[in-house]
Amino acid sequence: MQFVITEEHEMIRKAARDFAINDCLPGVIERDEHQRFPIEQIRRLAELGFMGMMVDPQYGGSGLDSISYVLAMEEISKVDASVSVCMSVNNSLVCWGLDTYGTVEQKSKYLTPLAQGMKDNELYIGAFLLSEPEAGSDATSQHTVAEDKGDHYLLNGAKNWITNGGTASVYLVIAQTDHSKGSRGINAFIVEKNWPGVTVGPKENKMGIRASDTHPIMFQDVKVPKENRIGEDGFGFKFAMNTLNGGRIGIAAQALGIASGAYERSLAYARERKAFGKRLADHQAIQFKLADMATRIEAARLLCYKAAWEKDMGQDYATSSAMAKVFASETAMWTTTEAVQVHGGYGYVKEYHVERLMRDAKITQIYEGTSEVQRMVISRAALK
Ligand code: CAA
Repeated sequence: MQFVITEEHEMIRKAARDFAINDCLPGVIERDEHQRFPIEQIRRLAELGFMGMMVDPQYGGSGLDSISYVLAMEEISKVDASVSVCMSVNNSLVCWGLDTYGTVEQKSKYLTPLAQGMKDNELYIGAFLLSEPEAGSDATSQHTVAEDKGDHYLLNGAKNWITNGGTASVYLVIAQTDHSKGSRGINAFIVEKNWPGVTVGPKENKMGIRASDTHPIMFQDVKVPKENRIGEDGFGFKFAMNTLNGGRIGIAAQALGIASGAYERSLAYARERKAFGKRLADHQAIQFKLADMATRIEAARLLCYKAAWEKDMGQDYATSSAMAKVFASETAMWTTTEAVQVHGGYGYVKEYHVERLMRDAKITQIYEGTSEVQRMVISRAALK
């Protein structure tokens, strides 16, 4: 692995950090408590060019590399993981999939406004619809069906836990088209939220990333034009897996940011709080916790950079992204739990932020493939 963090990368990191401190920190506790979607923050992200960071400028993107995306995700996630998950889904699950596999027409019509995050001065973002009530980790077991009707498909079924579900204008929907072909009988479709037959269910009341917008989505006899299928017939499962390989780098970077945010807050608190006549920072029990946090976070960061670098180099990054995600998300869960411990009673109340970071960390072990799924991906590659 040979990569350098360039001056341009540092500029991206600074822009993301300034955005996190100036635009996300004010109101983050209140948005979490009331599950209020961070619409102003997402609009600002769109202005910064962070909603389509890796998309070709020809299609409204910023044309940046994956390392830039990881740096931005880390900085924003230190402060507000509800903002960063919205950004991550739009960047790596929606825009990347369309940019890589979409037709010129699909890109002009959908990718350009999605990468800009805006259309006609309104927010315009996307969502990725793979999970179902009975198909989470077992993603090939799709019950949503798209029946081939000649010039269109007829879509019926239900999707669950959809990030950006209520706010998105465009859905990338994975559905079964031929049960007899297993994972090769699955297709991916571009579906507009306002088409007849699309229903958005109630917002989920979640443990963490509470300000993010998570809904079930139902389809009843939705007519999807043939030209809205992504890729060749039967490519949908590969599309989903390839897209998730990159998505997992984004979530790994989110977990890295959550862990780093908890660590930075623990350092500051240990320097200021006194117990038994000296600062917490002067107690070895706390020093060792801080040392372990710093070490695990650095290891997670290097795994994230490695996966991003491999992606930028055009190498196979499926295993690296799974390693980055499983390690970073477990680091986030461990670090945030320890951060609450370092803060003691103050850690258990909202003002010190670490209890929220601990709740937010949990989802990084679940979405875009649970830790168990990442271990399946890693061990299958190792044993092949
Ligand atoms: N990259 C590329 N291809 C992959 C792949 C990967 N990571 N994982 C599997 N595939 C391919 C296989 O090579 C195989 O291809 P062939 O047919 O050419 O051989 C095909 O996909 C089927 O794979 P398997 O036979 O291994 O299928 P399986 O049913 O045994 O299990 C799995 C596959 C890895 C468990 C997969 O189902 C999986 O990743 N599940 C987790 C799904 C997931 O991540 N969901 C997240 C939902 S999205 C979300 O959370 C978004 C959000 O809102 C935040």
